[in-house]
Amino acid sequence: MSTVIVMLGPPGSGKGTQAKKLALHLGIPHISTGDMLREEVARGTKLGKEAKSIMESGRLVPDDLVDAIVKERIARPDARNGYILDGYPRTIKQAEFLENLLNGTPPVILDIELEDDVAVRRLSGRRTCQASGHIFHVEFNPSSRGDICDKDGSPLVQRADDKEDVVRKRLRVYQRDTAPLVDYFQTKADFHRVAGDQAPENVFAELQRILNQQ
Ligand code: AP5
Repeated sequence: MSTVIVMLGPPGSGKGTQAKKLALHLGIPHISTGDMLREEVARGTKLGKEAKSIMESGRLVPDDLVDAIVKERIARPDARNGYILDGYPRTIKQAEFLENLLNGTPPVILDIELEDDVAVRRLSGRRTCQASGHIFHVEFNPSSRGDICDKDGSPLVQRADDKEDVVRKRLRVYQRDTAPLVDYFQTKADFHRVAGDQAPENVFAELQRILNQQ
């Protein structure tokens, strides 16, 4: 049976970290709209040009643009047996679009909770491997090679939207546009909430426990 998992939670709650581990563990793709949009920006495509300044200022890219890339991505063969959505849906409109795509199959929602101040600390220290996308933290999960990825030797970079003022804007946007999805999904989907302020391996163990009960 196909499993569709939606990672919900504010910026910095650990959605990407956990989605990558779950994808490996379950053998299904990790689909991050943030990563896909950053790739478009890096390639300088029409969509990337439109998204760049929006993302750097901490606002949301228009629903129709994001819906279109998700629709195309989940139609690929590797997503046939399920997938993990990270950073999508992010508005009620996107959730309705996804509901139509899923045609009645309720997704499993994994909502990772985190307080704003912890999120700010995490995001301002986040570093990402330019080549593999592996996520580090200068304090909580450092690379043993400093600014170089200890998995593949590529440089680690800080995301443009991880500066403190932009992070605070993203958290406000989350409260206004995305937090209402909690109520939306609580009645329509298989909804689970997990505390994000614990060690990554403990969050992962909790998520696995939830998924094993499916
Ligand atoms: P996106 O890339 O989706 O960013 P986000 O949702 O803001 O989430 P983050 O990637 O910042 O955080 P995360 O929860 O994944 O945490 P992570 O695991 O990295 O979106 C970026 C932008 O793209 C948006 O602002 C918007 O403009 C646009 N966009 C994307 N999707 C869109 C959509 N659907 N609609 C419209 N626009 C869209 O962890 C963070 C740090 O904490 C890391 O350093 C990590 O090592 C560390 N960490 C993780 N877990 C722990 C832990 N348990 N303990 C200690 N440290 C931890």
